[in-house]
Amino acid sequence: MSALLVTGGAGFIGSNFVRHVLERTTHDVVVLDKLTYAGNLASLEGLPDDRFRFVRGDIADAPLVDALVADLDPATDAIVHFAAESHNDNSLAGPRPFVDTNVVGTFVLIEAARRRDIRFHHISTDEVYGDLELDDPARFTEETAYRPSSPYSSTKAASDLLVRAWVRSYGLRATISGCSNNYGPYQHVEKFIPRQITNVLRGARPKLYGSGRNVRDWIHVEDHSSAVLAILGRGRIGETYLIGADGERDNAHVVEELLDLLGQPRDAYDLVPDRPGHDLRYAIDASKLRRETGWSPRFTDFRDGLARTVAWYRANESWWAPQKDDTEARYAELGR
Ligand code: NAD
Ligand code: DAU
Repeated sequence: MSALLVTGGAGFIGSNFVRHVLERTTHDVVVLDKLTYAGNLASLEGLPDDRFRFVRGDIADAPLVDALVADLDPATDAIVHFAAESHNDNSLAGPRPFVDTNVVGTFVLIEAARRRDIRFHHISTDEVYGDLELDDPARFTEETAYRPSSPYSSTKAASDLLVRAWVRSYGLRATISGCSNNYGPYQHVEKFIPRQITNVLRGARPKLYGSGRNVRDWIHVEDHSSAVLAILGRGRIGETYLIGADGERDNAHVVEELLDLLGQPRDAYDLVPDRPGHDLRYAIDASKLRRETGWSPRFTDFRDGLARTVAWYRANESWWAPQKDDTEARYAELGR
């Protein structure tokens, strides 16, 4: 492949992916991003002008998408689709943009891709499978039935089904990946780990929803990027690949580790009212991805990954400070 059209490339995972691609491959990159509250051009600063171009726009804008896709070469190029409304709490407070971007936006993209026979990779989430009991030995696989819980995860599930139908009915050359919870640099402070780090850096206490016993399966964002490249290179068309790095931890454990890394007592956090419909536990079995592509994660020491993330937020207050007050004001309205 020689050029990638990356949607949502100004967001957390998209911007890390773009950096990863420009550093480790010879592909050129065009980013299409609407710059919602979650998109940030500062996350793309310093990229090489001769290989990188930014276009501000909406993935649901069909004429714009068609024009960008017209520049791609079906023999060599691909669309990597990260753009989404991504935050569960926002989806509970106002689901409409989730339908517009995650469902209609994905529809517009796959229509453009199928008309020009462009290779398409759809970024999805483990949340489409709903949740697992805390003591269930099972983990999600590509065969697990869809059972999304939130407006966010149901719109992601809907977009996955659109992509699958376009593969079967129109021969769209697409793959799907479903990743677990990412952490690392450039993540918006509304999300769990950066919210707690920036709270402590601002002298506030971390906020744990409910009992703090909910489990997430953490993966460093760099490992997500390398997995997507592995699927683009070696994944089979029409297939879904789950991406995970065996990183199950409960939320209380994560907060205690963060407090420790930040030099605070491990119990210096508050329990706050729970998220409605809060999924209990996610866990990924990534053996298909490992077997078929040879991918493996590099960030296998979670505490070390957290320490690097803490260091990044310490060093980059100018990146996150502009988001912090608005984000906390929104949480205050929700009582969380
Ligand atoms: P994010 O919210 O940080 O970034 C989303 C980006 O999409 C932003 O730059 C935003 O401006 C852009 N965007 C939103 N609506 C758009 C539209 N209509 N047109 C063009 N651009 C638009 O999200 P993220 O956490 O980086 O997630 C990226 C993708 O990865 C999403 O598809 C998400 O579902 C998926 N995912 C996220 C995680 C995670 O842990 N964060 C895990 C698995 C999968
Ligand atoms: O599993 C993949 C998903 O991970 C992605 O599809 C989503 O885009 C991404 O936002 C993330 O969803 P979660 O809802 O799991 O992430 P969030 O960071 O919002 O919360 C992680 C856990 O921490 C969850 O159990 C809720 C809890 N939480 C969250 C916040 C913001 C708290 O306890 N306190 C908080 O302040």
